[in-house]
Parts: sequence; C-alpha cells; structure tokens
Amino acid sequence: MSREPAVTARPTPAVLARVDVAPDAIHTAAPTLRIHQLTASYGERVAVRDVSLECAPGRVTAIIGPSGCGKSSLLRCVNRLHESVVDARVSGAVHLDGRDVYAHDVDPVEIRRRIGFVSQRPTPFPMMSIRDNVVAGLRAATPRLDARALDACVERTLRRVGLWDEVARRLDDDPASLSGGQQQRLCLARALAPEPRLLLLDEPTASLDPLSTQRVEELVYTLRGDVTVLIVTHNLQQAARVSDTTAFMLDGELIEAARTRALFTTPADARTEAYITGRFG
Ligand SMILES: Nc1ncnc2c1ncn2[C@@H]1O[C@H](COP(=O)(O)OP(=O)(O)OP(=O)(O)O)[C@@H](O)[C@H]1O
Ligand SMILES: [Mg+2]
Repeated sequence: MSREPAVTARPTPAVLARVDVAPDAIHTAAPTLRIHQLTASYGERVAVRDVSLECAPGRVTAIIGPSGCGKSSLLRCVNRLHESVVDARVSGAVHLDGRDVYAHDVDPVEIRRRIGFVSQRPTPFPMMSIRDNVVAGLRAATPRLDARALDACVERTLRRVGLWDEVARRLDDDPASLSGGQQQRLCLARALAPEPRLLLLDEPTASLDPLSTQRVEELVYTLRGDVTVLIVTHNLQQAARVSDTTAFMLDGELIEAARTRALFTTPADARTEAYITGRFG
C-alpha cells in the first residue's frame, strides 16, 4: 500500500533549501500584492524607479540587491510608511487583492495596522513593557480581548519567534533592556500577533545568531500558505532557502524577478548573475 509522505510543520534542511511550488497552486485567504510602476523619492533623490512586481498569495517573495538600491524604500511604500518622511514622494499603485492602498478613501493608518511590518532597525515601542509591545498591534485591532487571551497571545507569539525562554520572567521590563537580536525578535512577535495576511520583513535576521536565524527562517516557511510575505535580505542563501520568488534590485530599478531557483541558477540578466556570484555588491 502506498502512503502519502507526512507533511511536517518543521521543514527539513532539504525542503528549506528548495521551495519550488507553482505560485498559483494554492487556495488561500492571503492577498495578492501587485506593485505597479512604483516610483519613490526623497526630495530630488529617486530611490525606487518604475518598479512593477507581483507577489503571489501565500507565497514568499525575497528582494535582494546591494546596499542603497531601494529595497527598504520599496517595502515602506507598500504599507505607506514612505510618505511619512518629509519631502518623500510616491507615484504608481500598490494593489492588495485588487484594491489600491493609495486610493483617496484609504486611511494610511489602517493600512499600516493591517500589514505586518518588521523594519530593518528594531523599533520596540518605548515607555511600554515587553508584554505590551507584543500585543500593541493586536490591542489596536481587537480592543475587547480580555487579559487571559492577551497573555496567551504573548506566550504563543514569543515562543514562535524563539524569545519566550529568554524573556518569560521579565515581561514587565523595558524592551530597551533587551539585546539587539532580542529586540528584533520582539518586533517580529509584535508584527505577528494580530495575524496579518501580508507581512513585510526588512532584513529580519540581520542581527540574529545562526540558531535564531534558522528559527525565523522556519517560521517564515510555516507562514507560507496563510500569509503573503515580502522579505528583504542581504543573505542570498536565506533568499534561496525561504522564498518562492526572488526579485533583484539595482540602483532603484527592478532588474528581474523570477522563481527563486531559476533566478539563482539561470538569471536572465548579466547584472543579476554578477551580483549573485559576488562580483559586486
Ligand atoms: N529618509 C531618507 N531620506 C533621504 N534619502 C533616503 C532616506 N532613506 C533612504 N534614502 C536613500 O534612498 C536610497 C535607497 O535607500 P534604501 O534604504 O531604500 O536602500 P536599501 O536597498 O534598503 O539599502 P540597505 O541594504 O543598505 O538597507 C539610498 O540612496 C538612500 O540613501
Ligand atoms: Mg534597507
């Protein structure tokens, strides 16, 4: 009798090394993200130039490219954080399941609340305990949750990001007392707690040790199917391990986006090949 292979929540390294499922092969409540001809600037400096990119629902899209090429700026356009910078401008469109987040009747605060976001530098909320940081977004989204539900969420989410054992006895402390890597995982927990359907991660493992990095990569893997993830990373192996699609940016432009395995094995553009083989950046 033949048996289906067991589906495990924890992917083996072999699975992590090669995620290769047709982007349109799943049914999910996660949104399709379509970035259309997006240009973003700070005063006269153009940081993102005419970028169009589609992120399949429930799939992981990685953005790679050298420092200063516009990765963070692009991410911050998706949740409308870019426009909070003085003199910043943005044109083009960002559609979430067909709805333009830049439409006149859309409230940017609501967009930022709905989209999970972990910024490049950890930004725990000051004047707020570790516990309150974890549930800050959840409280805003679901104000009537009782203390027991909030406590359960705090433990569950901190366990997901591998931080529970380190902070369980100091939940009322100031997050400034945490290390950089701990703060980064706290911010990831804060983004995950409201269970967003779209998650933007800007170098989420930049200050993590190898074990914590692996845990976050596995977490990203387990989100696949339920959450559309856009992750910026300088770690090419990480992009290869966790993403379905990889997009390469250079000088504000999107050079190419392709299925991850194809981009790393047979890039279409010579500049992509030069980057992934370490010839620049
Ligand atoms: N707040 C800002 N004001 C002015 N210019 C900015 C601002 N933030 C970014 N820039 C500029 O926009 C360009 C793109 O920056 P961005 O942070 O998006 O790059 P990045 O690809 O994320 O780089 P890194 O890999 O170093 O994080 C750079 O030239 C940068 O100097
Ligand atoms: Mg950046």
